[in-house]
Amino acid sequence: MSVSLTLTVNGVKRAIELDDPRMTLLDLLRERLDLTGAKKGCDRGQCGACTVIVQGRRINSCLALAISHDGADVLTIEGVAQGDRLHPVQRAFLAHDGLQCGFCTPGQIMSAIGLIQEGQTGGDPERVREGMSGNLCRCGAYQGITEAVLEAEKAQGAADFKEVA
Ligand code: FES
Ligand code: FES
Repeated sequence: MSVSLTLTVNGVKRAIELDDPRMTLLDLLRERLDLTGAKKGCDRGQCGACTVIVQGRRINSCLALAISHDGADVLTIEGVAQGDRLHPVQRAFLAHDGLQCGFCTPGQIMSAIGLIQEGQTGGDPERVREGMSGNLCRCGAYQGITEAVLEAEKAQGAADFKEVA
């Protein structure tokens, strides 16, 4: 039985026919839309490599049925830079060496963007570590990742302040 759904992915509306209604959002992104930035690490919700932002909230796309997000806005790592201009979180990861092999990095960055939007860390490294604990890094780049999130959060706060002033 085929089903159809519509998603807005990185600002582009996509109409998709699914032969298998059990297809996950991760498989749809990678196999149907050629957006391979979100990675399949564990495929069971334990590593965070597949993190994307759906309707403003970060989720593990390997655990999400694509059909259950019909009509949703989806942001993936491919959609965060503006042309050649990297997103502030991407720049902070580079500045703080928040990566080694890079396999976990798209998920880390999407999770960091979500965490900063949630506004719950208050510049506290411990809370950043807790908020990012669903994203595993086999290379152990956690120190740089935490520093990058803190810096990006600070930059975001300064930008917000400027907008209000
Ligand atoms: S691939 Fe989704 S959490 Fe690991
Ligand atoms: S940078 Fe290699 S798994 Fe995180």
